[in-house]
Order: sequence, then C-alpha cells, then structure tokens
Amino acid sequence: MTIPTVLTGHVDNPEHQPDLEGNMFPVSDEVDIARLQITGRLPDGLRGSFVRNGPNPLFQPVGRYHMFDGDGMLHGITLDGDGRASYRNRWIRSKGLCAEVDLGRAVYPGLGDVMNFPDASLVGDAGPVKNPANTHIIRHAGRYLALWEGGLPTEVTSSLETVGEYDFDGSLTGAMTAHPRIDPRTGEMFFFAYSVFEPVIRYYVVDADGTLVHRAKIELPAPVMMHDFIITEQHAVFLDSPIVFDVANMGKGPMVQWRPENGTRIGVMPRRGTADEVRWFEIDPGHVQHFWNGWADGDRLEFSGTRFEHPEFGIGASAPLDESAADNTPPYPARFWVDLTADKAGWEQIDDLGGDFARFNDEFDGVRSRFHYMSAVVATERRLGDFDTIVRYDDATGERQLWNAGPTGHVGESVFAADPQGSAEDDGWLINAVYDDRTERTDVCVLDAHDVSAGPIARVHLTHRMPFGFHANWFSAAD
Ligand SMILES: [Fe+2]
Repeated sequence: MTIPTVLTGHVDNPEHQPDLEGNMFPVSDEVDIARLQITGRLPDGLRGSFVRNGPNPLFQPVGRYHMFDGDGMLHGITLDGDGRASYRNRWIRSKGLCAEVDLGRAVYPGLGDVMNFPDASLVGDAGPVKNPANTHIIRHAGRYLALWEGGLPTEVTSSLETVGEYDFDGSLTGAMTAHPRIDPRTGEMFFFAYSVFEPVIRYYVVDADGTLVHRAKIELPAPVMMHDFIITEQHAVFLDSPIVFDVANMGKGPMVQWRPENGTRIGVMPRRGTADEVRWFEIDPGHVQHFWNGWADGDRLEFSGTRFEHPEFGIGASAPLDESAADNTPPYPARFWVDLTADKAGWEQIDDLGGDFARFNDEFDGVRSRFHYMSAVVATERRLGDFDTIVRYDDATGERQLWNAGPTGHVGESVFAADPQGSAEDDGWLINAVYDDRTERTDVCVLDAHDVSAGPIARVHLTHRMPFGFHANWFSAAD
C-alpha cells in the first residue's frame, strides 16, 4: 500500500446528490497559503492554530453519498500572534483511502446507501470498513488525534500530516467516540465507544501521560448510536437513547431506527467505576447528539445539550435524492438534571432557537460553566445542520446575544480560544469558519466572546472555500 504524498480529488455530482451540493461539494486540492488577507485586527494574544475536520471525498462515491462518509480533511489556520495568518489543508491518509488510491477509485460503500462491504480482495489489509477520521480533532498528552466514532483514532502531526491509527500502545482494540472529555484539572481523558453489533458501550480512562488506565464494559438493552457524553469531577454520564442499530437489515434497508418505545435513560457512574456501579434514570424519549457542559452540585447533576425529539440522520436509509420531504426540525437547547438522592431525573427545554454544536471554555469541562456558545438557525427553511447564527448564552443572567451571518452566510462550530492574559471564564474569543454563498469563499471569523452580537472583530479571508464539516479546536501555541 502506498501512502501518497500529494492528493488531487476526482469527484463529480451528475446525480445532484444532496450531500455533494453547494458547499458540501469537496475541494480537490491540498494547498499551503503562507499569508492570508485579513479584515479587522487579530487579537495580539491569539497565537496558535484553529483546525477543523470534515468530510471531503477524494473519489467519486460509490452509490448514495452521506456526509458522514467522506474522507477526512483537516483545514488549519495558523495565527502567529503578530497579525498574520496562514492556511494549510490535508486529507487524512486512512488505510481505506490509501487502498482506494492504489485502485484509482472508491470501493467503500457509504452510510447513505444500504450498508455493505467492499470486495475483500480489493482492499486487503485496509479492512472491510473505511475509518475516514473525519469528525473531530483533539490534542491530548502531546498527540493530535483525528476522530471518527466507528474506528480507532488517527494520529496526525501539528502540520496535519497523517501518522496512522493510534491504539494507545495496543490498549485500545476498538472504536473511540469523536467526543472524548478532557478534565483540564487532572489532564485525564475519558471516552467511550458504542457497538453496531452488540448492546454495549465500552468506557475508557486515559491518564495525563496518555496511558489507558481504566476500562468498563456496560451492557445496554439494545445496540444504540451514542455520539457524546459528559463528565463531572466525580462522574461519567451517558444518555442511552433509542437510535437502534438493526444489523439484520444490513445490505437490505434502514439499519438505524428511532424506536421511542424503547425508552431513554441517563446512566451515571463513578469516573473510574465498574459496570455494576452504573445507576440508570428513565426520562422522556429524546436524543442528544451534542452535550454542552455538565457538573455536580452536591448530589444533583446538571448538564445541557441540544435535544432531538425525532432524530433523522438518513443513515442506511436508501432515502430518495429529493430531500423536500426530509424532517429538518433542529434540536433545541435543553437542560437535564439527575437527583442522586431522590433517585429522579428530568429535563426542560431552555430556548426556542434551534441549533447545535455548542461549545464553552474547555477549562471548565466538568465543573459549572456560565457561558455557552451555540450555532443556531434563524432562517427555518435551511436544511438540518445548516446554521446562520452564533448565540452566546449567559446562564447567570439569562441573557442571550446573537450574531447573524446574513441570508447568504453559514456558520460552523464556534471554538472558544482563551485569552492567555485573561482570568474570567469568558475572557477570550470565538473562532468560526463562515461560508458565504455570494462570494463562494470561507472567512475564518474571530469574535470577542464577551460581545458576540458585535460580530467579527477580524476576518481571515481564505482564498477559496472550506466545505461544510464537523468539529474544530483551537490549539494554543502557549500550551
Ligand atoms: Fe459531533
């Protein structure tokens, strides 16, 4: 298998597949731009790299394409702290992609179609499932890991070159969620993985040095998709919601089904607990793809997230190409609570603005945080996941600030970059990749986290567009 040094894309969209339309269409080149134009002024203290992961298929997809399938591409914007910005993008060289490069075409079927496997004689050592590492990028114990919840993490360098799949020195044999939690006070990383085939989640703790030191296998009533979870200083908290895998349907039809009759449960366990220490609390059926933060206040746990009443991700659905009948109802912000003494749990909706991708100052992961920043949709005709507004919530005052990117603007996930000179929770900036239909370009926008409604204080103009993607992080040069 050859690991290619330079890649060029080969995608067309003659069938007008929805997940390849507009700014979902992949870019075809890897580029390095040494100096980008900037409008406004970058803050002096903002020195490091904003890196965003997302799908960017290299070859013409096999069958119906779903954006969860695309080969991971990392887009990195580096700010030198002296007013200058540079850009680099790189495909993640997964084993599956390298096998396809050798063949000169895509061979892995996508999640948007009925799931199936490629001919083993074609892909060889790359295995039956491509791990595109396309969902998130984190840094822990000095390693940069690109994440996809169906497989091992993929290590990359700070300059976005692929090192390869990483298994914690042989300690991890299966998948890792794209949403681990890192406790900034202890340096530990906590994560889990679900199984398509087994009704279990596997839970892991990695210490500050990067050694996997604890694991537990937690049994569930059914195999479910679980994308995110939360920690407090003492607990790991899971949401077992009824997005159920139906493997018997593999290769034939819908493989993921919403079964509200199965119920929804919050599971609470000690951070280094065992499976028999998990306590389960029934709540109304609903799904949370992304949690905000969580914390314990005595024996009461509180956490927030964006809650779907009826999630619809079109995975393995063989859905028609016409998306006009799709349910584009976004998730809504919700606050959940668990009373460990009274043995009760519940939830309430906290805003009528739909959105997702909420972030906060990561220094507060697991302890009470006051400020949260969500990507929201005000123009309700947009497709699910297409956001036009950044919202700042102040939980102490109930104040909500909005910045709308306009009718042709599309905002991504807001990443909080702390001001190294600051001390308050919201001393810092939000960084967000904003695409504009009018210019067909992406600006990486910097907002003052205290004053989101003022809009960007600086815009770094990319020379091209960054296709819509998933999650990002800020890697401060000071850390
Ligand atoms: Fe996610």
